[in-house]
Amino acid sequence: MQSCSRVLLLTCFSVLLIAPLMLPGCSPTPSSPRAIGQPPARAPSFVAWKSETVLEASHGDALRGLLLAKRCDHCHGSEGFSANANIPNLAGMERLAFWKEMEDFASGKRNSEVMSSIAAPLTRQDSADLAAYYSMLPTAADPLDRQAFPQAATPAAQSASAGRLIVLGDVGRGIPPCQACHGPVGFKTGAPSLAAQNADYVLRQLRDFASGARANDINMPMRSIAGLLTEEERQALAGYYGSGLGRLPASAVLPK
Ligand code: HEC
Ligand code: HEC
Repeated sequence: MQSCSRVLLLTCFSVLLIAPLMLPGCSPTPSSPRAIGQPPARAPSFVAWKSETVLEASHGDALRGLLLAKRCDHCHGSEGFSANANIPNLAGMERLAFWKEMEDFASGKRNSEVMSSIAAPLTRQDSADLAAYYSMLPTAADPLDRQAFPQAATPAAQSASAGRLIVLGDVGRGIPPCQACHGPVGFKTGAPSLAAQNADYVLRQLRDFASGARANDINMPMRSIAGLLTEEERQALAGYYGSGLGRLPASAVLPK
């Protein structure tokens, strides 16, 4: 009787030892070859443009947004124009794009220590209210306000290369025209207008998309496009938008 229970105990013990090895995923042999060398899947953003998301993002209360914006003025300016060319202007920023950026900062999908700590405590409704407020601000800056925009146009900004990329893109390299998604010709959902954006900020975003330091663009349009541009082209494009040329129809600056 005693030896029988000892055998039983031993059997139980060995089953306990072996069982985890038989569980899927616990096997000591390498997993299926398809998984080897593949990066883990990474979603660029937790925002997906479903109809309920569009509704949530676009139905903010601008008056409540105005009150919340008091804590943003310090960096983004009381009229939505920042005094520092490295900090983006928010005046007239389209609601959906604004709301998505706030969600991405809050979730850490877009890296910025300063903006993540500001966005994380806000509710989705707060972001919608702020989006409603900033989207209503005029995109022409008050000349009496301290602001960085527009900057003086550099020769590179006035070169044909920036205008050409904006109007025509570059078919040879598979670069679509910027104005097809950023306006004035077309707007892709979530693509902010760049017409009143600071040059230094635009340049930093293009470099960050190219290096992958910013990777929150759904379906990666910006990581692919910025990666195909040369550094000279990135500077020319940043200068073009930063000097306010983006407010004119781009064909106006193309050489005849
Ligand atoms: C201490 C300075 C500071 C304060 C205060 C601040 N921001 Fe920002 N904000 C920044 C900087 C810097 C960036 C650019 C981050 C980056 O480089 O990616 C930014 C980016 C943003 C963007 C992205 C804009 C774009 O074009 O993609 C939004 C939207 C924004 N801030 C909204 C807000 C709101 C709303 C508040 C107030 C609740 C606020 N910020 C307060 C510094 C600040
Ligand atoms: C196929 C559409 C598409 C095209 C073409 C495109 N973009 Fe974008 N771009 C986007 C989207 C969408 C975003 C917003 C990414 C996100 O979700 O944060 C963006 C973001 C940006 C930003 C960051 C803006 C901000 O406020 O943070 C810059 C700068 C930019 N694009 C520049 C360009 C330039 C310059 C070109 C042309 C060479 C270009 N884009 C062409 C879709 C496009």
